[in-house]
Amino acid sequence: MGRPLRDLRVSVTDRCNFRCRYCMPRERFGKEHNFLPKSKILSYEEIQKFVLACKPLGLSKVKITGGEPLLRRDLPKLVRQISSLDLEVALTTNGSFLSREAARLAEAGLDRVTISLDAIDQELHSIITDSNVPVSDVLKGIADAVRSGLGPVKVNCVVQRGVNESQIPKLVQQFRGTGVIIRFIEFMDVGRTNGWTPGQVVPTTEIMDFLSKEFDLVPLMRDSPSDVASRWAHSDGTGEIGFISSVSQPFCGDCVRARLSSDGKLFTCLFTTLGHDLSNLIRDGPDVSELTEAITEVWTRRSDRYSEERSSDAYSLPKVEMSYIGG
Ligand code: GTP
Ligand code: 5AD
Ligand code: SF4
Ligand code: SF4
Repeated sequence: MGRPLRDLRVSVTDRCNFRCRYCMPRERFGKEHNFLPKSKILSYEEIQKFVLACKPLGLSKVKITGGEPLLRRDLPKLVRQISSLDLEVALTTNGSFLSREAARLAEAGLDRVTISLDAIDQELHSIITDSNVPVSDVLKGIADAVRSGLGPVKVNCVVQRGVNESQIPKLVQQFRGTGVIIRFIEFMDVGRTNGWTPGQVVPTTEIMDFLSKEFDLVPLMRDSPSDVASRWAHSDGTGEIGFISSVSQPFCGDCVRARLSSDGKLFTCLFTTLGHDLSNLIRDGPDVSELTEAITEVWTRRSDRYSEERSSDAYSLPKVEMSYIGG
């Protein structure tokens, strides 16, 4: 379909210290869950080799994800290795360890960070994440990221009907005037453990109608056509808001994102059931060009457009889990 490979999302671990119900419900991801064994997880050198192999295909940005990527030891080392390849490096994290790491990540060459935060009220945050991490820790992480120059810092809020709509205006107020961009994401049918139903999605238009009553918002241009978020700003210049409308307004036509799991499988869509196992080539392949060839072969045959074709038959397919592929 002529879509280049511009962005690579790299999951560095399938583990997380949160148990968000829509991503890693505790009854499915409890003590008995088999996380990937250490022997299968790519080393930073192996990830760097894969990233290097993607460069000839037009790669310009690498997004580090998890699970929770800051659970991986010495993540700044990986950041340094990727940024030495002259690529933009960004990170998506749940923010619980960010305060401790922000300065070191920035020093290592991290360009930007995005933090997931579905609720600002402590009680609701604890319920959604099934953890007792204080919201104040996440907010401190966000402030330290801004202070360390990891901007524009973005905050992602996945909106679920009947769960956290009350947090939408509070989050907008919280970040207004701080330079932090708050983005509302339509809840998606990723994986097979979150019991998604269309009724749980709050469409962007509904959130916009609601916010327009309280805030005067004006539209902004997207930075690039392949960006996932539409952008709006407070008319008085006090900040920006984004919407990721992957259910109501899918954006597959401009999808330039490849995903690498932490055990070396290449996924050409967030919703695919099967990854292409390139771990042997990554680990034992004699040179990078052979890996580039393998990636090119997979990428040029790609015809994914799941969100545009979404149908009730597809909800129950054995899709990969978000915690394994990193969103
Ligand atoms: P930046 O704006 O560069 O920080 O990155 P991003 O918005 O691409 O990444 P982020 O990790 O913040 O993801 C935002 C949300 O968009 C998450 O819910 C992702 O799962 C979702 N998303 C990102 N890429 C895609 C995609 O290709 N398809 C779909 N359907 N959703 C995506
Ligand atoms: N739908 C939409 N976004 C999701 N995320 C995790 N699961 C879902 C889902 N089912 C978000 C996380 C994180 C980003 C990478 O994806 O909250 O911000
Ligand atoms: Fe929640 Fe993100 Fe962890 Fe999933 S990976 S449980 S969405 S914090
Ligand atoms: Fe890309 Fe698949 Fe998302 Fe469509 S559904 S934008 S093809 S990752």
